[in-house]
Amino acid sequence: MAAAQETAHGDCREPLRELLGTAASSSPLPGQKDNAYLSRPADGPVCGKLEHVEVTPSETSPAAAEFEIRRITTRAEMEAALVLRYEVFCVEQGVPRSEERDGRDHDATHLIAVENDAVVATCRLVFVGNTVQFSRLAVARTARRRGIAAAMLRVADEQTRARGANRLVLHAQTYARSLYEQAGYVARGREFVEANIEHVAMEKLLER
Ligand SMILES: CC(C)(COP(=O)(O)OP(=O)(O)OC[C@H]1O[C@@H](n2cnc3c(N)ncnc32)[C@H](O)[C@@H]1OP(=O)(O)O)[C@@H](O)C(=O)NCCC(=O)NCCS
Repeated sequence: MAAAQETAHGDCREPLRELLGTAASSSPLPGQKDNAYLSRPADGPVCGKLEHVEVTPSETSPAAAEFEIRRITTRAEMEAALVLRYEVFCVEQGVPRSEERDGRDHDATHLIAVENDAVVATCRLVFVGNTVQFSRLAVARTARRRGIAAAMLRVADEQTRARGANRLVLHAQTYARSLYEQAGYVARGREFVEANIEHVAMEKLLER
């Protein structure tokens, strides 16, 4: 995968201060009590509550360590997730910042994987009726190939069920297609280019 690069869309390496607009803090996000804002589905009431999930990767792996997947509850966690997305999508993959920050973050439930107090992965779920639009799955370079993304997909399934939805859809980068296939996703339609990267639409139906 390409390292930090300048793309036809301009240099993505803008100051993070400008990207985030605010200083890091551990306070709840604006207008929210506890994690009420982030646990709010886009449509309808919360049908169930998902507690954080602790995952221990293979104990035989030298890279093994505990990570925890949970919903974002504070501004500091949200900012850490946005920094990770910026580093992975804009800096590493050359996605224009305007496409990475598409204005849908306020309508989404955000998950993070935390290890040793650091956010090492994130993803986003947008609920539309009984469907979840899954996106922005990013794992820190130093944390890859340890099953964190696969674990995030399992938690996304739990979130989907907990809110009474039963279908997940996403645009997979074709190089990572097997990640989603192993998680039960099926490709739909032809490959296409989005943000200068080859993608394929995939979906997964959950059994009730
Ligand atoms: C793609 C990405 C999310 C995978 O995260 P990860 O935590 O390393 O993935 P996992 O360890 O859970 O991998 C599970 C399986 O997915 C597949 N997979 C993961 N990374 C892959 C890669 N770079 N190339 C091909 N297959 C890959 C493998 O089948 C893997 O199983 P294996 O390790 O036993 O071979 C991570 O590499 C990443 O953040 N990439 C940059 C951003 C990105 O592309 N996001 C996805 C957008 S669709």
